[in-house]
Amino acid sequence: VRKKAMVTGGAGYIGSHVTWALLEAGWDVVVIDDLSTGRRESVAAAAAFILGDVGEPVTINAALAEHRPDAVLHLAGSAIIPESVIDPLKYYRNNTAASRTLIEATVNAGIDAFLFSSTAAIYGVPPRMPIDEDMPTQPITPYGTSKLCTEFILRDVAAATSMRYVSLRYFNVAGADPKGRTGQSTPISTHLIKIACETIVGKRSFFNICGDDYPTPDGTCIRDYLHVSDLADLHVTAIEYLVAGGASEAFNCGYGHGYSVAEVANVIRQVAGGHIDARIAPRRPGDPPQLVADARKIRRQFGWQPKYDDLRFIVETALAWERWLQARAA
Ligand code: UFG
Repeated sequence: VRKKAMVTGGAGYIGSHVTWALLEAGWDVVVIDDLSTGRRESVAAAAAFILGDVGEPVTINAALAEHRPDAVLHLAGSAIIPESVIDPLKYYRNNTAASRTLIEATVNAGIDAFLFSSTAAIYGVPPRMPIDEDMPTQPITPYGTSKLCTEFILRDVAAATSMRYVSLRYFNVAGADPKGRTGQSTPISTHLIKIACETIVGKRSFFNICGDDYPTPDGTCIRDYLHVSDLADLHVTAIEYLVAGGASEAFNCGYGHGYSVAEVANVIRQVAGGHIDARIAPRRPGDPPQLVADARKIRRQFGWQPKYDDLRFIVETALAWERWLQARAA
């Protein structure tokens, strides 16, 4: 019998990749998305689609009653860190309150498998590198706190009910589907690789290197960039684990090594095959100098072998998607 998954935020960047990965693994998928940042065209044609907000009890109860999924993968949320500082209530609504509503509806519907899209931002500025799952969670932004609150809700609900969850704490997700079916389409992005690719295709004339005086070898921030398709495959693995009865766990999702912004800029220039204007600019508020995952737990638990641990490939797929978006807009 085919299993059915509900993917919240399935029209978004990561959610659309997760939907394709689930379909390829033989799942039926129903996407629920309010299209506040996602695109209708990003929803895989083979998935059912509900236009709606998972924070609306009437909407989500009806969707679960109609589709009766075996598992819920909760990726809907807001994820722009500077915006969360300006408008924290938006983040506590979209990431915390909406999650609480969805979790309640999931429990009431008798669904026991719940996957949550969490973030490395819950660790704040960690005391050492790399970051393992047992390090203290001390977020420094409302975004990180709004996600951490949901992890606490899940922990407590899992202790009190038969629901089990996996929390995937994403590091820096980048790149696009190697088959070209979807990619990062959000109109306003703050992500380094996205912005750099917009520069290559001429949507921008330059990009900024935000800070070159950090305590890192070249002075620029270090991040663990993870290809979105490897991350999407991890969602399939994790939800199959839960549906098979796996216990509640949190996992860091990264490759376990990082690149500095200056190193990313060099790969950008190589892939562009010409001059790209990258300008040293002031630090961006709220950026920890270094975020690198200790990825041993997820590798050990699932025997995970990433397919795309290659910064150049990540940039090439992101660029191919950016070119496609540009050709379509023209
Ligand atoms: N950066 C630049 N120039 C830019 C954009 C970014 O130099 O134009 C720098 C940033 O200062 C940072 C690095 O590139 O040092 C990465 O920045 P991103 O905006 O690409 O990603 P963040 O590390 O800020 O945040 C991302 C996600 C979060 C997630 C976090 C976890 O946006 O949701 O990764 O590591 F929580």
